[in-house]
Amino acid sequence: MDDIQNTDQPKFSAPGGNWGRIFLIGFMGCGKTHWGKLLSHHLHIPFFDLDEKVKEKEGKSINDIFAQNGEEYFRLAEKETLYMLTESHDDFVMSCGGGTPCYFNNIDYMKKKGRVVWINCSTQSLYNRLIKEKAQRPLIKDMTGEQLKNYIVKKLGDRRIYYQQATIILNEDELTLDNLLHQLSLS
Ligand code: S3P
Repeated sequence: MDDIQNTDQPKFSAPGGNWGRIFLIGFMGCGKTHWGKLLSHHLHIPFFDLDEKVKEKEGKSINDIFAQNGEEYFRLAEKETLYMLTESHDDFVMSCGGGTPCYFNNIDYMKKKGRVVWINCSTQSLYNRLIKEKAQRPLIKDMTGEQLKNYIVKKLGDRRIYYQQATIILNEDELTLDNLLHQLSLS
């Protein structure tokens, strides 16, 4: 009996034959970009970082968009970019901004167009990451540690209602590439 395993066989396969559009959502600092890049590389489909695409479209940093044009303008540019990328591509992994699912019914739109994965991190691990990286993030850049802690608790509380609508919810302690692929192949 030949017991040689065919290692070329992928361990997981896409439901219906292709992976479709995969949107990663979650609070700032939860690792959407890291996991998005890893996932897209593994699935051989394009990766889009929505913030990066908004920056390209507007020709300036997210900090400058907030400072010069205001948050409302940013939210509209974010929505336009989300729609533009989604309508023009059938398969991709997109790392969304922390606020993307919380404005203009974007969460409903994303769920209609593909699958949404929420990376759910504890307030403590978000704090540990964000305290080191806050300068690049307009909403938190001027906060003290104490203010940042309170902001995460409050904002995560407000946004949970949107994040919870994701197709797949993965807590940080169960987050591995294999688990992500397993969940996506089931949903
Ligand atoms: C925001 C998160 C940021 C960026 C903008 C607003 C938010 O994206 O879109 O600064 O409202 O939480 P990341 O979550 O990728 O940092």
